[in-house]
Amino acid sequence: MLIDRHAEPTAAAAAVADALLARFSGYVAEHLGLHFPRGLWPELLRAAEALARDSGIAGIAGTSRAAVCMERLMTAAPTRAGVEQLARHLTIGETYFFREPELFDTLERDVLPPLIAARRAAGKTLRVWSAGCCTGEELYSLAILLHRLIPDLADWRVTLLGTDINPQFLRKAEQGVYRDWSFRNVPDWIRRCYFDAGTFAPVLRQGVRFDYLNLATGAFPGPDSGTPPMDLILCRNVLMYFAPACAARTVLRLRDALAGDGWLAVGVAETGHSLLKPLQPVRFGAAQLYRRPKPAAAPPPPPLSAAPAPAAVTVSTPPRARMPDLAERARQCADRGLLAAAGDCCAAAIARDKCDPGLRYLQALILEEQGDVAAAMGALRDALYLDQTFVLAHFTLGTLCRRNGDEREAARHFANALELLHGRAPDEPLAHAGGLRAGELADLMRAGAGTH
Ligand SMILES: C[S@@+](CC[C@H](N)C(=O)[O-])C[C@H]1O[C@@H](n2cnc3c(N)ncnc32)[C@H](O)[C@@H]1O
Repeated sequence: MLIDRHAEPTAAAAAVADALLARFSGYVAEHLGLHFPRGLWPELLRAAEALARDSGIAGIAGTSRAAVCMERLMTAAPTRAGVEQLARHLTIGETYFFREPELFDTLERDVLPPLIAARRAAGKTLRVWSAGCCTGEELYSLAILLHRLIPDLADWRVTLLGTDINPQFLRKAEQGVYRDWSFRNVPDWIRRCYFDAGTFAPVLRQGVRFDYLNLATGAFPGPDSGTPPMDLILCRNVLMYFAPACAARTVLRLRDALAGDGWLAVGVAETGHSLLKPLQPVRFGAAQLYRRPKPAAAPPPPPLSAAPAPAAVTVSTPPRARMPDLAERARQCADRGLLAAAGDCCAAAIARDKCDPGLRYLQALILEEQGDVAAAMGALRDALYLDQTFVLAHFTLGTLCRRNGDEREAARHFANALELLHGRAPDEPLAHAGGLRAGELADLMRAGAGTH
């Protein structure tokens, strides 16, 4: 709570609280890059409260300790220690080995072999960066790939750099000790061959280094800091948490950190986002990577039908005009209980338009119907990443969180939904809601379908 529990709550006090959170959200965006719009302010408040508790900060004269903590942070000159403390409470540590296997298959089959051949001919150096490496699973997955692909690895100068803003994650990455959860997506033999009782084999750590780097404000490795450019950068599931301006800036800086023939991979939920327009997308089956665009040498005039964004080099994309057909077919199949077919149509529609939140929502409904609640929640989070004002996605995600027993997360999504509904006329039809109106959903939630 921002305002002391014993103080009389007044509209003026609430306005002060809002103003403080708005400023603090701006501070977090500026110094950590992270995006906390109004709907996520309760998270900010929780982080400030935890930080105040950890730092022994007390409330002063009717002002809560969280408010005092926020003010202190914002009035002092920003320090790395302050940013690290905030990062401990605001960053999300979700990762596992070989996350998004299609990408790792593509790296192993299509991307790394030619890159390794080129670097073999040029002196056997290779530079790989996991930006936002969390607890290290991503970087060690890359180390395993290189070990499999380069038989004379001991003769190479390999840099495997993992950077993150959260020092606790970095410490865990350096230890390289993992529990079952980190292996949830890998075949047993990987665990047997490369780990000893859950510890990543020290002999395979050649070139591995973990460092603190705040992507919002720090100097990037590569030309930015006077070092050679990176051959491969993985910056996955990081940009999706960034404030739009910081994400756009980061994309440009990642591009500039790449070697001319280097590669960038982002997370599957980030792939295809318009922020990545400064890069050239290249599709390999189910995976898409990015590279620096080639300098255009007097291009021929584009055909009239050409889209303004750079097209993925090898994608065979049917025309967008057919998109509604697929989505419609998915809905029809779902209505008839043909869930597998509905899922396939929906996945195909998403493959052609990754930025349509409505398709992610439809996919979530199909997955929920199929009993895969975890995947349904993932699809809803994707929908919200694409459109944070998607009321029904907040509401449905809240319902699923509650079903999973996660009351805190449920309350957060219901609060977001109610707040978004607050600004709508009661008779305004909601997107993707089959005719349901804003007032009707608000009534439903007040009656207990959402909030208790
Ligand atoms: C969801 S994890 C993704 C981990 C891994 N890349 C993956 O995809 O499995 C996001 C990571 O980004 C890090 N992060 C968030 N903001 C950052 C920033 N400003 N600079 C560097 N890392 C940041 C978090 O600490 C967290 O470890």
